[in-house]
Amino acid sequence: MKLWLDGGLQDIETARVSVFDHGLTVGDGIFETVKAVHGRPFALTRHLDRLTRSARGLGLPDPDLDEVRRACTAVLDANPMPLGRLRITYTGGHGPLGSDRGEHGPTLVVAVGESARRPDATAVITVPWTRNERGAVTGLKTTSYAENVVALARAREQGASEALFANTVGRLCEGTGSNVFVVLDGEIHTPPLASGCLAGITRALVVEWTGAQETELPLSVLEDADEIFLTSTLRDVQAVQRVDGRRLPDVPGPVTAKAMRVFDERAGDGLDP
Ligand SMILES: Cc1ncc(COP(=O)(O)O)c(C=O)c1O
Repeated sequence: MKLWLDGGLQDIETARVSVFDHGLTVGDGIFETVKAVHGRPFALTRHLDRLTRSARGLGLPDPDLDEVRRACTAVLDANPMPLGRLRITYTGGHGPLGSDRGEHGPTLVVAVGESARRPDATAVITVPWTRNERGAVTGLKTTSYAENVVALARAREQGASEALFANTVGRLCEGTGSNVFVVLDGEIHTPPLASGCLAGITRALVVEWTGAQETELPLSVLEDADEIFLTSTLRDVQAVQRVDGRRLPDVPGPVTAKAMRVFDERAGDGLDP
């Protein structure tokens, strides 16, 4: 297996970054996860736009998108697989042990791992921890994901594949690695970006393609919603069959099933929507 580091392809067994990389010591980095189907990345332009937005939000230099594109192509060509999780990681680079950033410039790593198609339906839990809708890094896809690691581990303990957060004022926000949609009286709703959720690429496509509305919703909407679904790069649109102790009947419901169909059709029209 090969990955991209320091401007070229390297063997994953021997590729090394500094143990003082600020991404490692303080989580000073950003990333993107891109779906790659038979070696071809999906929605890469949107992912690279978000990578730049995240870099600017963190005060990192703009990533060289020509290099990132070359790296993605090289890594995908070197590691053929039917469904890949292409991972772009961009950090503050070698630096001091504290929160000040060093002078060495950023680290860019592009790697790919095999992935499997997700099931059409899944179980989720809610967690008591909050998303901060007013933080310095809210809405940025940073590598500081330890809160998500803890919440996802809680979900796994309870036989679920995702944990959903409310924000600090009790509104529905997002999952550890997904956005959430609910169906109320036949209409699709998802929390607005002001809730503190990530501007998911899949979320944006689903809003565009289904006309879903951005609506502030209390966390408790999960107790009454007719249907619930998740979106993310590797889930696409995935129906929720259980939230905590509540089992939803007839999953996927009709509105979710239609959203899944529309997503598949529109995604099939072109690789870079
Ligand atoms: C916190 C969080 N929310 C939402 C998403 C979904 O975003 P996307 O559709 O761009 O994968 C992700 C992505 O993995 C995420 O990490």
